This record gives sequence, structure tokens and C-alpha cells, in this order.
Amino acid sequence: MKEADLRTQILNDVKEYMNLQEAKAALNSGDYIPYASRVYDEEEVTNLVDAALEFWLTSGRYTKEFESKLAEYLNVKYCSFVNSGSSANLLGFMALTSPLLGERGVRPGDEMITVAAGFPTTVTPAIQYGVVPVFIDVTIPQYNLDISMLENALSERTKVVMAAHTLGNPFDLKAVKKFCDVHNLWLIEDNCDALGSVYELNGEKKFTGAIGDIGTSSFYPPHHMTTGEGGAVYTNNPLLHKIIRSMRDWGRDCSCASGEDNRCGHRFDGQFGELPEGYDHKYVYSHFGYNLKATDLQAAIGTAQLKKLPSFVARRQSNFKRLYDKLHDLEDKLILPEKCPDSCPSWFGFLMTCREGVERGKVVSYIENHGVQTRMLFAGNLTRHPCFDEMRKSGEGFRIVGDLSNTDRIMRDSFWVGVYPGMTDEKLDYMAMIIREAVNC
Ligand SMILES: Cc1ncc(COP(=O)(O)O)c(C=O)c1O
Repeated sequence: MKEADLRTQILNDVKEYMNLQEAKAALNSGDYIPYASRVYDEEEVTNLVDAALEFWLTSGRYTKEFESKLAEYLNVKYCSFVNSGSSANLLGFMALTSPLLGERGVRPGDEMITVAAGFPTTVTPAIQYGVVPVFIDVTIPQYNLDISMLENALSERTKVVMAAHTLGNPFDLKAVKKFCDVHNLWLIEDNCDALGSVYELNGEKKFTGAIGDIGTSSFYPPHHMTTGEGGAVYTNNPLLHKIIRSMRDWGRDCSCASGEDNRCGHRFDGQFGELPEGYDHKYVYSHFGYNLKATDLQAAIGTAQLKKLPSFVARRQSNFKRLYDKLHDLEDKLILPEKCPDSCPSWFGFLMTCREGVERGKVVSYIENHGVQTRMLFAGNLTRHPCFDEMRKSGEGFRIVGDLSNTDRIMRDSFWVGVYPGMTDEKLDYMAMIIREAVNC
């Protein structure tokens, strides 16, 4: 049999195998309701096997396709696929430290306005680089940064605002963008939990992540779409894109793709730094970079997932609405989530806060004991974690502006359940029933 025919046969066999698996999974779906799960079919696995047969292993044709399709979906100019959402945040932040940005470059001792109610790796890169995170409180029930605190948080050293759109709910981009524009600050949108969320700015509907200077995504399995491990950094700024690519790919100056040589035709005739003239451009380093690339195996899954993304987003939105409609009369026990004005969130989860007299510990135990998985809002208040012990003791390395009373309340009283696209109406109704029982018992 010819190679091409053999390949087609293998891929057809994979399709058949996957159809059997799907039928089996439907029969055995059970009663347990996770907060999130991967939703995929034979297309993802066929692509994965296709990439495995090519055995390119690093970034290649699937990566190129995935980056360009994701950029097209988000309506951004440039997109870089990386190996996690945390790497995307690291790269997004570190890009701002590039010497190519001159005066606007971020330097150790500068400040970054952010929140403590969220995921640690939104803040970690700043701390590791020696930039001071300045924490402001969030509002409940939007769970996003309290814009009334922005001016108070500003100092002569403020260079960046970096925050996540919490569980898919966009933060007030109009106010935050204006604040950044007025004070000449960078804006990084951690879009890891909000892929597909839309925000209307100046009469134009845009995807979150595409409004600030840089946006980041995570494709870890519970997220809006998955590549296993994986993430992305996107921007409309060509200089930031150049820096992002350089830092993602070892810090090199050259922009040849993996395995490519001498695309520019000047591999051996440039002069850089104090290197001898003609030194191989492939090994010239303009940044202190990393290797944060993902593989074509991951991108192959991503290209199939991306086709399903609009339907995933729609299902998340209708699941959220169904849950909301079933729970809205519990407002005296639970504070229910509220979307940001001018936005259409692509919800990651359904976040609730227990009112006084309702004990979160008991509520969550009841819900979990009845087969529904729950989650906290990640770190709750990041500044209270052991990783902050030394900084808390010394009082150096971070600032808190105002108090973080809502952040502390979220740490104590909030929890969330899932709305992922694999959830059926029956499961959502069961979940609503269990939450109702939990707060009433
Ligand atoms: C807001 C936010 N940012 C960043 C990340 C990190 O993504 P990853 O797990 O892909 O590193 C997460 C993880 O869930 C997240 O929720």
C-alpha cells in the first residue's frame, strides 16, 4: 500500500475508533458533574495522529495555521502560540521590559496595578522581574478591579495595568483603557478565562484580549478550548509582536521558523552588538529570552477546537442563563454574578458569594457530597498566601491601596460551579436543585 493511502487508512481508523469511544462515553456519562471538561470529537484526535505521523514535534505547519486562525477569530494582527497560559502571561509581561521600547520599557522598581482576587500567574512575572504589584480591591458581584481605586493606585512609577477578566466577565475596559491612555500605561488583558467574551468600546464590538496592548489565553483542559497544555499571546502592535517572538524563541534576533535557515538572505552579513561582522544571525540574541514554544501536536488539536469555539461560547452563555434563571430567587442567600455593562461574557463559570448567615464551608460540602464539583475563585486573596510570607514580613515588594475587603470576602464566602459546553440541561437543573438545597438546609 502506498504511503498516502496508508495514512488515509490510519486516519479513517482513528475516526472509527473515536466514534466508538463517543458512543461509549455517552452511555457511561454518570451523575458526577465536573466544573469543566474537554469537549472534543474525532476531528481533534485525527489531527493529533496526523501531526504525530509527521513527527515534526516542535512548532510547524499546524502551529502556523492555528496562530493565523486564532488571530483571525480575535481580529488581531499577531498571535503567538505558547506552552501555557502562565507562559503567555510571562511573555506578555516580559515583552514590556524590552530595551527596544526605550523610555516606555518597564524596569525593576516600576509598578503594575492589578488585583489579588484571581490566579497567581497574572502577577508572578512582575514579582519575579522586580516590578511592584499594586493591589486594588474588586467589586462584588462583578469580581473585577474597582475602577474607582485606579487614580489612588497611580504613582510616578506606574507603568502597567495587568488583570484578568474574571471567569469570563470583562472588566470595565472603557474606564481602564482610558486610564491607561491618559497616563501612558501599558494594558495587558489576562484573557485566559474569557476567550470569546465581547466588549463594546466606542460603538465597536471587540473580543476581550484584543483591546489592550497585549492579550493572553490559556488552553489548559478546563478552559474555553483546549490544546492540553497551551496558551497564546496576541497583539496588534508589530514591535511588541517582534519582541514576543524573540523572547518566546530563546531571545534570538532572527525570525526564521523552526527548521528554517536564512529567510532574510542576510544570515552572514550583519553586525550586531560587539560580535564580529557576519556572525551567524541565527545565533544572535537581542533579548534574554526563553523557550516557551508549544508543539505541532498541541496546535493540531487547537485547529480542530477553534472551529468549535463559537458553538462552545454560545453553549456557555445559554448554560449560564439557565442556571441564573433557576437560581435568581435565591438572592437573599447568595449574591449571583453580574456582567459588566456593554459586555457579552463568554462565561468560564458561575460565581456566587454566600450572604451573611450562609456558611460557604457547609454549602460547598453539601454540593460536593451530591456529586457537583465546586471551585474557589483561585487564590481568593493572593497576598495572604505563603508565597507572600517574606514580602508581608518585610512590607516590601508590593503595595495595597485602600483595603481588600471584597477580596477577603471572596476568599471567605465565594465559590463557583461550571457552565462548560458539555453540560446537559438535566445536569444544569440538577445542579441548581442541589445549590438550592445546600443554602436552605
Ligand atoms: C486568569 C488565569 N490566568 C492564567 C492562568 C494560567 O493558565 P495555565 O494553567 O495554562 O498556565 C489561569 C489558569 O487557569 C487563569 O485562570
